[in-house]
Amino acid sequence: MAAPTGTQAPSRARITERTLRTDRWWITPALTVTGLVAWLAYATFRVFQQADYWVAEHHYLTPFSSPCVSNGCVDGAAHFGTFLPDHPLLPYAALSLPLLLLFRLTCYYYRKAYYRSFWLSPPACAVAEPHRRYTGETRLPLILQNAHRYTFYAALIITLINTYDAILAFDGADGFGVGLGNVILVGNVVMLWCYTLSCHSCRHITGGRLRSFSRHPIRYRWWTFVSKLNTRHMQFAWITLGTLALTDFYIWMVASGTWSDLRFF
Ligand code: FES
Repeated sequence: MAAPTGTQAPSRARITERTLRTDRWWITPALTVTGLVAWLAYATFRVFQQADYWVAEHHYLTPFSSPCVSNGCVDGAAHFGTFLPDHPLLPYAALSLPLLLLFRLTCYYYRKAYYRSFWLSPPACAVAEPHRRYTGETRLPLILQNAHRYTFYAALIITLINTYDAILAFDGADGFGVGLGNVILVGNVVMLWCYTLSCHSCRHITGGRLRSFSRHPIRYRWWTFVSKLNTRHMQFAWITLGTLALTDFYIWMVASGTWSDLRFF
């Protein structure tokens, strides 16, 4: 039998409990699992539903189907043309969704969240891990997390596309107008920008890797701005999951005729 490791190694003080913490340390990982599984279940359903993603009257397009590039997309919803085959297993936004998934999967905050809550590595500070071996991110596949910056570049382009969608939504079938859907779409886009620009790779790219800030005053300003956003990166990660689901749900309900859009003018 292999020798005990970690807190049970022969050289360590003899404490048999996994942790001596008396607080409810398991709440954060439990909430993380619940939140992420619920969101993924909802998003998967909506992405493959391939219905009620576009409100022709007000030009609302859900971010879950943007950009709509499948031959199945209805006229008007496809702002960048259609070139992918219409298939039940191919989401209408099959170009952007895998990149966004990789962006969030390799995000430094989400890595912390799922390494802790799904992989229990560690489940919480000062709570012993169930694993015998630990190689961190030194081997395949986890070494690929280092490519996060490339998914950040893709996310920048997709956030620009979401911004374009939100602007187009002010120009409905009857011309210019504003409804609750516009407020929700714009709010979502603002939050998406906050999340994308608060990325740790963005902080590194804008100025984090410089040695002398005094020689790069503009990049120093950018870095200062991004650093302020970056302190809230975890909050933006969760807020944007909420605003994405809310935006999609609102458009789903209006598109399906369950309720109509609240118009301001
Ligand atoms: S670190 Fe979270 S998006 Fe880049």
